[in-house]
Amino acid sequence: MVKQADLKTDRFYKAAKEAGYRSRSAFKLLQTSKKFKLIKPGDAVVDLGAAPGGWSQVAHEFVGEGGVVISVDLQPIAKIEDVVMIKGDITNEEEIVKAIKEALLSKERKTVDIVISDAAPQLTGNKDLDQFRSFELSSAALNIAVKLLKNNGNFVAKIFQGEYYNQFYKSVKERFRDTRAYSPAASRKRSAEVYVVGKGYKR
Ligand SMILES: C[S@@+](CC[C@H](N)C(=O)[O-])C[C@H]1O[C@@H](n2cnc3c(N)ncnc32)[C@H](O)[C@@H]1O
Repeated sequence: MVKQADLKTDRFYKAAKEAGYRSRSAFKLLQTSKKFKLIKPGDAVVDLGAAPGGWSQVAHEFVGEGGVVISVDLQPIAKIEDVVMIKGDITNEEEIVKAIKEALLSKERKTVDIVISDAAPQLTGNKDLDQFRSFELSSAALNIAVKLLKNNGNFVAKIFQGEYYNQFYKSVKERFRDTRAYSPAASRKRSAEVYVVGKGYKR
């Protein structure tokens, strides 16, 4: 849990406010996408676990007017111009894939260039349980990506480090030509989160 006092001195929190981003997490996607050249103008992006919408704002900036952003979360997401919002549970993979395909068609697109996931479970304080739930969400994101990504498409998903991390990393490595683990500067030093980046989906 982040204390209000910590937020006041947090440079990414301040910068997010100044830039009009809904979350300080927006900088994690900015830094990760820039480092690995993940999101390009014109791309179709699927953002899983997207509320309140900081990553979707950044994705929208990267893809520009010719691109498409489809955002999914359990929670409602306040409107972002040109971004399609789907309210749903990403662990209901088939239902979510169907809804995303419909959204793609409405934008006259068939394939997805990149799937991004910052989905995180509500923390219980029980480390093992939280890590397992994070693994479940990251795995759901990967399963959805596998069904939607074009050949050579990209993927990035958050996972909490722990017992299941290696298993998840291996699953990404099997499906992508280049796989890396990355902790952007905007991730808090004490955080257990890491982003697994897969480049070049082997369809
Ligand atoms: C850290 S927040 C994402 C922040 C977001 N990237 C941003 O920049 O605004 C994690 C999100 O994952 C969502 N989430 C957790 N479990 C989910 C699930 N099963 N299906 C969809 N979203 C889920 C939560 O509702 C929460 O909004």
